[in-house]
Amino acid sequence: MKKIFFSLFLLMSTQCNAAPENITCKKCHPIIYAEYQNSMHAKASVFKDPVHKAVWDKHPAKAKNNYKCAKCHTPSDHDLISGKSKLEDNKIQQTEPISCQACHTIESIEKHTKINKNKFTKKKKYFFSADSKRKGKKITFKEKHSFFGLMTKTSGSPYHDIDYSNENFYDGGMCLGCHDHKQNGKGFSVCDMQIKKNDSLDNKDTCISCHMPKIKGTFVNLKNTHTHAFHGISIHTINTSLLAKHIKLSLQKTTDGFEVSIENKANHTLFAQPLRLNQLRVNIEREGKTLSLERKNFIRIIGKDGKPAMPWVADSELKNTLIKAHETRTVDYDTPLEKGDTVVIEFGYYLVNPKAAKKLNITDELVTEFIILTRKRVEI
Ligand code: HEC
Ligand code: HEC
Ligand code: HEC
Ligand code: HEC
Ligand code: HEC
Repeated sequence: MKKIFFSLFLLMSTQCNAAPENITCKKCHPIIYAEYQNSMHAKASVFKDPVHKAVWDKHPAKAKNNYKCAKCHTPSDHDLISGKSKLEDNKIQQTEPISCQACHTIESIEKHTKINKNKFTKKKKYFFSADSKRKGKKITFKEKHSFFGLMTKTSGSPYHDIDYSNENFYDGGMCLGCHDHKQNGKGFSVCDMQIKKNDSLDNKDTCISCHMPKIKGTFVNLKNTHTHAFHGISIHTINTSLLAKHIKLSLQKTTDGFEVSIENKANHTLFAQPLRLNQLRVNIEREGKTLSLERKNFIRIIGKDGKPAMPWVADSELKNTLIKAHETRTVDYDTPLEKGDTVVIEFGYYLVNPKAAKKLNITDELVTEFIILTRKRVEI
């Protein structure tokens, strides 16, 4: 009996340690909560992301269960972060590895060469957010009674304070503790977004305005705000419609054929994650037949001694044809076009380069299929 009681107690205490935080937010922010479930931030752990798992399974630190990826992939598993526990399957890993609070409590970003670091506020129930009309304000919950208490007007959230003065929530700086760059143990850059500051006046886009655009639906139950910032950030669940407009495809005829231009309006290198394979496909539809032209890859291959290698082994760059921030890349084709032709241009990516997928034994369909980000048909 004592034994049963003891193990019950253990079970309860482990569950307590890994108590989800997001459930509280759900009550008042149901739309954002629901959207978040499909985001990669809700699935960034080895238990939810088969690609992250496949790479972790080959990582030398796995033998010692020394999960060094937690700072960015599962910052909300607080016991794991503090070293109190090792990586294990629990509620946080399953449902909110990067919780609402993990983002909304980021006070500042400390810049480092190897990886940047998120500095979180220590204040309880204190969240940062952005609203240009309230910029600079700090809002605590207030109830105003009038008509002898018969009418009540409230402002702020009854559950938490809101701080609108954190610049990182306006310029996208809060994303860069995790997303800017990552070097391996050898000081070699495994992933670098090579972010460019927007200096043109007509392009004011930030990480937040592009990836979390305002869409229909109130952000809170207690008042109708009509719109909310999209929280379903992912390229895995193929919501390409929100982002495709930032990549412009165009075609120009040349003397001996034509050229296709790809304009990247994002302020970062496209598909910098070293597993990705970005590809341009061009087909010509002519008299009921389809002529497929050679596919063009945009890729960064990292390696050692001239051969491709895993990120923790790599010490050099073997190839880099990725499209940089604000770059327009032009690709030449020497196939002459004829009147009546339709040229179909497709620009997209594989989540995992098929060659690497084989090495990692990844067979998941979504991971191995070609995802079209944007497509254009040009009649000649
Ligand atoms: C500095 C923060 C940081 C650390 C530390 C980190 N990662 Fe990541 N990782 C990211 C970010 C951000 C992305 C998303 C990048 C993108 O999509 O461009 C990512 C994406 C990935 C992906 C691609 C996932 C997919 O579904 O396509 C893999 C695989 C991965 N990380 C493996 C690891 C492993 C293994 C470790 C630990 C040994 C690790 N990462 C440590 C930030 C980090
Ligand atoms: C009891 C209801 C309630 C709960 C629970 C709650 N919120 Fe809120 N929250 C509100 C209200 C109401 C507002 C709007 C306040 C205003 O506009 O004056 C708000 C506003 C916010 C904002 C700022 C919105 C803006 O204007 O930019 C953020 C961020 C936020 N909540 C995050 C959270 C997170 C994260 C959780 C869970 C840990 C949470 N909230 C739980 C009621 C709640
Ligand atoms: C606490 C660290 C952290 C913060 C803060 C963060 N991210 Fe992420 N993000 C990640 C990790 C880790 C992944 C990769 C998850 C995976 O694929 O396993 C990711 C994935 C993504 C992806 C999708 C890539 C994919 O593989 O589908 C996008 C887009 C993205 N983040 C954008 C943002 C933006 C924009 C912000 C700021 C508003 C932000 N992130 C803030 C850690 C973070
Ligand atoms: C002008 C719009 C725009 C801006 C600004 C922008 N992005 Fe992107 N981002 C895109 C597009 C387009 C893609 C490619 C389509 C996709 O992956 O869904 C992309 C892809 C990504 C990915 C996925 C890459 C991958 O291979 O997994 C991440 C992560 C990301 N952006 C993070 C950021 C961060 C962090 C910032 C701020 C520094 C930012 N983005 C700013 C448009 C933008
Ligand atoms: C990847 C980081 C990240 C995560 C995770 C995240 N948020 Fe946000 N959230 C932001 C940013 C950045 C903004 C500011 C967007 C803006 O208004 O420009 C924001 C805005 C909001 C707002 C105000 C909405 C609006 O339209 O201005 C609310 C409310 C909110 N978040 C609640 C939540 C809740 C609840 C969760 C968890 C289910 C959550 N957030 C998870 C980054 C995040």
